Amino acid sequence: MPRQLFVTTALPYANGHFHIGHIMEYIQADIWVRFQRMQGHTVHFVCADDAHGAPIMIAADKAGKTPQQFVADIAAGRKPYLDGFHIAFDNWHSTDAPENHELAQAIYKDLKAAGLIETRTIEQFFDPEKNMFLPDRFIKGECPNCHAKDQYGDNCEVCGKVYSPTDLINPYSALSGAKPVLKHSEHFFFKLSDPRCLAFLKQWTTSGAVQPEVLNKISEWIAPDENGQTKLGDWDISRDAPYFGIEIPDAPGKYFYVWLDAPVGYLASLKNWLGRQGIDYAAFMADPSTEQYHFIGKDIITFHTLFWPAMLHFSGRKTPNAVFVHGFLTVNNGEKMSKSRGTGLDPLKYLSLGMNPEWLRYYLAAKLTARNEDLDFNQEDFQLRVNSDLIGKFINIASRAAGFIAKRFNGRLGAASADGAALLQALQAKAPAIAALFDAREYGKALREVMALADQVNAYVDQNKPWELAKQDGQEAR
Ligand code: 2FM
Ligand code: ZN
Repeated sequence: MPRQLFVTTALPYANGHFHIGHIMEYIQADIWVRFQRMQGHTVHFVCADDAHGAPIMIAADKAGKTPQQFVADIAAGRKPYLDGFHIAFDNWHSTDAPENHELAQAIYKDLKAAGLIETRTIEQFFDPEKNMFLPDRFIKGECPNCHAKDQYGDNCEVCGKVYSPTDLINPYSALSGAKPVLKHSEHFFFKLSDPRCLAFLKQWTTSGAVQPEVLNKISEWIAPDENGQTKLGDWDISRDAPYFGIEIPDAPGKYFYVWLDAPVGYLASLKNWLGRQGIDYAAFMADPSTEQYHFIGKDIITFHTLFWPAMLHFSGRKTPNAVFVHGFLTVNNGEKMSKSRGTGLDPLKYLSLGMNPEWLRYYLAAKLTARNEDLDFNQEDFQLRVNSDLIGKFINIASRAAGFIAKRFNGRLGAASADGAALLQALQAKAPAIAALFDAREYGKALREVMALADQVNAYVDQNKPWELAKQDGQEAR
């Protein structure tokens, strides 16, 4: 039965160019989408820029641009990466687009109607010079634990201690240098601690929607401790003006926190795309046969496996069928990529050197599994696998035959001999097993199977030496 799928990758922040980690995620999803289409299924594959939030607003300000202009300029640079690595999204949209404003506000209103939104007054650091509340990352000061200077408001990079900004000694604003003052403000909360949310999340997370190792990770949030309490607290979903974001209905000067409207951007991009295809978005999403999948990295698990499904469920919407989490890309034996150490792998540089995008796609696929685990890019291994497997085995089949087939036989093939036909049949018999591996995102295993088949073909060619056969008289006629 042909299926109907809606597939996304995480929406990248619109404050920088893609790094190789983005490209890896897009390639992983792109392979899956191509595979599903080859099986005859319909897939809508969408992404968007994640436009909102304080860091983008501040970066835009520094660049002397409006946030809209800043984001548009970043968006304008996306195409060479996507085209360059053959990543074929159907649609690339923005979380600042009208569809997202409408959908985020509608979801919020539905959550409110469900009794899951609450306001509370909280105390927060405020920059008296910039006249704005400061996100934790923009407050610095001395670590209360090890007394290292110039540490961020949420954790110390020297001793690793996690704390809140008010714990910092001599805090200062990273924006203006001013001493921040504590100020009250009313914030909006999504009541994730509500027993209904907990009950739903227990059910959804154990429904097969997340990988076992991911379930393990998030269990710490939803499993009750010895006192029956869970770690899942209410989620602060509002930010005060000035903020680049979406206004909260009936709450002047209040905006949705960027992580509230970011995943809604999946729906906004889909809606925009379907609209341009003449497909009704509401009907598509209401169709019980529609399947929804999100590819994401391991750093944003809680947003996608707790907050997002709860937002969807309690606003009366369809929840994801699965969230597929991948690990990070490391270099040369597990080292974190670092620009300053020169261990990064810049995607455009790769292309500008004339490196074939298929090499990288093949290499990453050959190492990808269905698990949430890091993947190491190793230069020697890359060279070896591309040369020995991709070129030495797979491409070799065509390249050793193409010459004489073109030269002597006008590029046309004759009927297969009996043993050739038997070999073909044996190869085709492997298709269901390989397809199952692709479907399960076990690309590495799938490609090992494919390369084993390539070995069989190469052995057959070695035995039969068609270049010699081709020289025999009368072969042209056959
Ligand atoms: O971590 C990030 O890069 C976020 N911009 C991902 C957002 S995914 C989705 F929620 F939009
Ligand atoms: Zn410290």
